[in-house]
Amino acid sequence: MNKTLSTHLFNEAKRYIPGGVNSPVRAFKSVGGNPLFIKNGAGSKLYDVDGNEYIEYIGSWGPHLFGHNPPFIKEALLKAIEDGTSFGAPTELEVKIAKLITKLVPSVEMVRMVNSGTEATMSAVRAARGFTKKEKIIKFEGCYHGHADYFLIKAGSGALTLGVPDSPGVTKANAADTLVADYNDIGSVKKLIKENKNEIAAIIIEPIVGNMGVIRAKDDFITALREICSEEKIVLIFDEVMTGFRVAKGGAQEVLGIKPDLTTFGKIIGGGLPVGAFGGKKEIMEMIAPSGPVYQAGTLSGNPLAMSAGYAALSHINENKDLYENLEKSSKYLEDGIKENIKKLNKNFSVNRVGSMMSLFFTDKEVIDFKSAVTSDTNLFGKYFQTMLSRGIYLAPSQFEALFISTVHSKEDLDKTIEANMKSLSKFLK
Ligand SMILES: Cc1ncc(COP(=O)(O)O)c(C=O)c1O
Repeated sequence: MNKTLSTHLFNEAKRYIPGGVNSPVRAFKSVGGNPLFIKNGAGSKLYDVDGNEYIEYIGSWGPHLFGHNPPFIKEALLKAIEDGTSFGAPTELEVKIAKLITKLVPSVEMVRMVNSGTEATMSAVRAARGFTKKEKIIKFEGCYHGHADYFLIKAGSGALTLGVPDSPGVTKANAADTLVADYNDIGSVKKLIKENKNEIAAIIIEPIVGNMGVIRAKDDFITALREICSEEKIVLIFDEVMTGFRVAKGGAQEVLGIKPDLTTFGKIIGGGLPVGAFGGKKEIMEMIAPSGPVYQAGTLSGNPLAMSAGYAALSHINENKDLYENLEKSSKYLEDGIKENIKKLNKNFSVNRVGSMMSLFFTDKEVIDFKSAVTSDTNLFGKYFQTMLSRGIYLAPSQFEALFISTVHSKEDLDKTIEANMKSLSKFLK
């Protein structure tokens, strides 16, 4: 595989951009080698600047539920650009998208649009603190909620991949207000609440985790979490930046049957443009300025380009009744194929999947939390990643990320992936 131009561009990029990339996990640091520079994407395929084609499962880290450059989003964007890119004043489209979000996710009675998932989570926490007049928050080890200071404590995703789950630059004061519990362990939550009685404003959780690989919250755990939050007047925030509109039309809360007080969104909600949102109970959301005193603002928030792409994506979801059923079928097909390969090779690796999010962990432990996730052999993952890539299958370059299946991955794509999986695993497993 020729990678000459990608290598040249990466060397050039490193001179001007820290690490040569604008977001850390793109750099292939944990899997070795240099990142590919991409020229274009179409459907389930990506094309690099050297002309190589890949069937890919990153989907820009989640947004591309319908694959790359779907015609209905492109059309909406071209139409919107005719009228102007940003007005800094309200538009009808903002009302339409807010209304549609409240329809698709019933726990969301009001919603505020922002520009990224990080903005959504930090604003949701501020709203919760303003509402409860309390300051501390609880998060879970290995969950990632964006890069705001008080979330970079035992964080997942790139922070975990690069071995910096607690980032320098975060002040002790900031870190002190974030308490960390163990995922799927209600005892660890109860202990923190007891030790910090009447001080916890919010519990933020990925109800289905993507950022230490895919892990689903157990039913009894998430039910107990909901109950404790109600009893203790703690705002329960579901971070659905990744799972929103991904695992079901109504997100992880639909899959788990639990209503949070606030929900954060990103990725799919922007149809591939930089968008985030947070929403939930009216009494909490009305704390947000200008209806309430909790300040939150954004120059480009709700801008017409982002809203038109997001509205096109959500309308497509709203109108296509069997979208998630079909996605489940193709995702299960891939899961079954990979599990069959692992069995044939007499291995017992864990495969976790919820809807179109999936992870193959190089461990025979059941992966239910951070401690079990990190039993994965990341060296093996690195070899697997590189071998898959050389066979034209582009996975997320980290053990601790999800693989995303899109609505346009064909049976042929999936069969090629299953075949490459078998050949790659056989190559280095004895
Ligand atoms: C669950 C979750 N929350 C928050 C974020 C941060 O979103 P963004 O990268 O748009 O700031 C991410 C990003 O991957 C995420 O997966």
